[in-house]
Amino acid sequence: MKCPWLFVFTVLCMRCEAGGNKPRRGRGSMWWGIAKAGEPNNLSPISPGVLYMDPAVHATLRRKQRRLARENPGVLAAVAKGASMAVTECQHQFKYRRWNCSTRNFLRGKNLFGKIVDRGCRETAFIYAITSAGVTHAVARACAEGSIESCTCDYSHVDRAPHRSRAAAAANVRVWKWGGCSDNIGFGFRFSREFVDTGERGKTLREKMNLHNNEAGRAHVQTEMRQECKCHGMSGSCTVKTCWMRLPSFRSVGDALKDRFDGASRVMMPNTDLEVPAQSNDAVPHRVPRKDRYKFKLRPHNPDHKYPGNKDLVYLESSPGFCEKNPRLGIPGTHGRACNDTSIGVDGCDLMCCGRGYKTETIFVVERCNCTFHWCCEVKCKTCRTEKVVHTCL
Ligand SMILES: *[C@@H]1O[C@H](CO)[C@@H](O)[C@H](O)[C@H]1NC(C)=O
Ligand SMILES: *[C@@H]1O[C@H](CO)[C@@H](O)[C@H](O)[C@H]1NC(C)=O
Ligand SMILES: *[C@@H]1O[C@H](CO)[C@@H](O)[C@H](O)[C@H]1NC(C)=O
Repeated sequence: MKCPWLFVFTVLCMRCEAGGNKPRRGRGSMWWGIAKAGEPNNLSPISPGVLYMDPAVHATLRRKQRRLARENPGVLAAVAKGASMAVTECQHQFKYRRWNCSTRNFLRGKNLFGKIVDRGCRETAFIYAITSAGVTHAVARACAEGSIESCTCDYSHVDRAPHRSRAAAAANVRVWKWGGCSDNIGFGFRFSREFVDTGERGKTLREKMNLHNNEAGRAHVQTEMRQECKCHGMSGSCTVKTCWMRLPSFRSVGDALKDRFDGASRVMMPNTDLEVPAQSNDAVPHRVPRKDRYKFKLRPHNPDHKYPGNKDLVYLESSPGFCEKNPRLGIPGTHGRACNDTSIGVDGCDLMCCGRGYKTETIFVVERCNCTFHWCCEVKCKTCRTEKVVHTCL
């Protein structure tokens, strides 16, 4: 220990930060840090097939989440994959926007996405939805790949009745359709509810917002499942067909959620008369029963707007400005961000730089170029020095 004082200070700080739970956030978001599990790290002797889990990452999980991990061996790797797919997708969707979904050191009680999640704004809605979708997607796929001990392929689409396609009917042959190995969306959906929604009791408005957006993320994965089939039989005659249900690509889930981000609904507390559970007796239970957590309907803030649907994203308050640095909200500001001087969109220098102006520089980048393939099996490239004009916000 080089500096004991620093050590004491760090420990104290970890305590105060961990204890400073902000009640507004809802309580279920610390697991996002798992997205960084398995990243290169000086502590990690990674053996193949074993997910190295920094104990600090494990410590961010709630008790119930650790139990779920124990009961479903292999699932934690899928959750980590889902979370990191979600981060990558979020950064892709927001790459050229003022808020770019950057992540930070999440340990010591800090949130992976930073303090923005303390606000119930659109960006937060997107974060909840994409991470919940990521877990649903990765777990459903991992089941089909056989990497989780407690689930398998979904064979419920097995359909043993003979079918006749038009072509087959013309040729007067029966087509047999057999169920193949489907991605297990049922398991993925249920697991995501259990794991991701842990701690969101659905009591406060913010917890309702989180639950709604988590459900929206899952719904986008579930409703985009597609059937894929493969024909067997002599020379493509397709007398036997194998079909299975496949998850949508995660990119298409991200695209759809980004559209919902653009059209997100601002909501407020539901009218009590609109709450779905029949609360016949006035003795409102202190705890919402688990299965009833999802039975609520959020009311649009503007009474002229329609009620949000189950795939819509919802938020409670307007977004902060992302133009200037704001340490209180963890916003770095757009100084130094790259922008596009010919675009009139959000990636354009006018909007990205918030009217402050930008500087233009010519830089040289060295790239591999003119690659040619040589038999066998080598690719030879030249290095080119190309000129690039870059614009950055002042
Ligand atoms: C987001 O923007 C900041 C500057 O505001 C930059 O430092 C960071 O690398 C960007 N992150 C991503 C993921 O693009
Ligand atoms: C800049 O924006 C224009 C217009 O939207 C687009 O055609 C062009 O590809 C963009 N350039 C870069 C480098 O993204
Ligand atoms: C790469 O190929 C293009 C055309 O094929 C040629 O004009 C260019 O000079 C080549 N560049 C280098 C560095 O060889």
